[in-house]
Amino acid sequence: MSADNLGFLLIGVIAVMAGATIVLMLVRSELAQASGVSPTRGGGRLFLAAALGMGIVAFTVKLTTFTLMATLPQQVINPLMVERHFTEIVPADWTKMPGPPQKDAIYQWQALPQAAPAPADNPTTIEKVELGKRLFFDPNLSLTRDVSCASCHDVVGGTGVDGRRTSKGIRGQMGGRNAPTVWNAAFQAVLFWDGRAASLEDQAMGPPLNPIEMGMPSGEAVAQRVRENAGYREPFDLAFGKGTPITFERIAQAIAAYERTLITPDAPYDRFVRGDRSALTPAQLRGMALFQSTGCIACHSGANFSGASFVDLTAGDPPSGVANDNGRFRMFPGNDTPYVQRYKLTADKGAAGAGSDRGIWRIPSLRNVALTGPWLHNGSVDKLEEVVRIMAASQLGASINGEPHLGRAVFWSPDERSVSRVDRPVLSEADVQDLVAFLKALSSARLAQKLAAQ
Ligand code: HEC
Ligand code: HEC
Repeated sequence: MSADNLGFLLIGVIAVMAGATIVLMLVRSELAQASGVSPTRGGGRLFLAAALGMGIVAFTVKLTTFTLMATLPQQVINPLMVERHFTEIVPADWTKMPGPPQKDAIYQWQALPQAAPAPADNPTTIEKVELGKRLFFDPNLSLTRDVSCASCHDVVGGTGVDGRRTSKGIRGQMGGRNAPTVWNAAFQAVLFWDGRAASLEDQAMGPPLNPIEMGMPSGEAVAQRVRENAGYREPFDLAFGKGTPITFERIAQAIAAYERTLITPDAPYDRFVRGDRSALTPAQLRGMALFQSTGCIACHSGANFSGASFVDLTAGDPPSGVANDNGRFRMFPGNDTPYVQRYKLTADKGAAGAGSDRGIWRIPSLRNVALTGPWLHNGSVDKLEEVVRIMAASQLGASINGEPHLGRAVFWSPDERSVSRVDRPVLSEADVQDLVAFLKALSSARLAQKLAAQ
């Protein structure tokens, strides 16, 4: 309790004592006579004094309580007043809010499938993959003939990223967002940080026409760049049938087919889930339990650690289902924290559009996340520990290392007409380290080895 509140308590006690004294004097000199109670026989006087005294005490207690409530910090009051939280629920669109972690539900940990799902109109074939790979590395798909997909998604020496905060396109132009890895993008039901592409095919038609990235004037111009190279005719025939016209759409289809082979089911985590109990270290196991109990799984769920994935608990195995639409996007940052200013987390609003005060983002996959820094949509964070702190605080309202605790939150689902209560997590710095250890267990052994060999 602060010095301020002690002061108020003291005033309360003094008021009670002063009140009691006044009452006794009143009773003795005035009231007893007026009411005909004998001044010498004690019973009646005592009764009168007690009645009046109680009134004054009750009033003083009330006053003190009100004053205390008005001055105590919010974190102290919140746990005492669960009902107050009903004001913070019922957002206009609750599905975009950080959801309540499903603590009691059984959570099934899943390993990554050995193959990525493909759409019916673009089955993955060896020939198409070969062609797509060649296109992925071809700088002629850019206006200045010096930027390829691989320039920003280094899948040979790197981990599918460029390692920059934001990407560098043609003529040295800098984009506004961090390049996500293309590894396991094939498992995501929507692509880009803001989820604006509905498939890998869709996505692949973006960068060539983006004025900052590859700068081509039109899809037809891209197709022309491929047609002008006679060496592409045969691979196209093999991939799509003899004489099939080379179009921007087919270029995108081939690139997408290649990307569906860029998957990493070889993380220590996968080995663990498939049965090798020694695949995770004790710290990683503690981190895995924390990942579930603190609620990271509410968003980073399923085999690809993203609610925006095809392979989610709600979707079953690929390619049967598409993840529930509501599970793909979340408000970020969900809570106001000092991190928002420090890393300019609301400068870009993602799918929410400029009018909003927060961003809405597709939930990213956390596979290989330890190998793909810097992190977040603006690439503003260099340390994975810090990303975990930001996530825990802004998405789960966690208190970390003695930071003020937000207490309890209540979430209302208008669809299910249910209310759930969440006690916000408290994490120590050691917990943060354990979570980081677990995230490292999501790194492909092959990719990690490749990096280490450099
Ligand atoms: C100049 C750098 C640059 C080039 C060139 C580039 N990308 Fe990207 N890529 C990015 C950035 C930055 C993003 C994120 C943009 C956003 O979310 O708005 C991205 C996003 C993606 C994603 C989405 C991943 C996810 O998790 O949603 C895929 C897939 C991808 N790129 C594939 C490609 C392909 C295929 C090409 C070539 C046709 C390509 N990129 C060319 C920088 C680049
Ligand atoms: C309410 C949903 C939600 C919860 C809960 C959540 N995250 Fe996230 N996470 C996101 C979103 C959305 C992003 C993308 C943020 C952005 O746009 O930069 C993200 C990004 C991340 C990233 C950075 C990915 C990258 O490639 O830069 C990491 C790491 C991460 N989360 C880990 C965690 C951990 C660990 C927890 C639990 C402590 C957690 N998240 C809880 C929604 C969530």
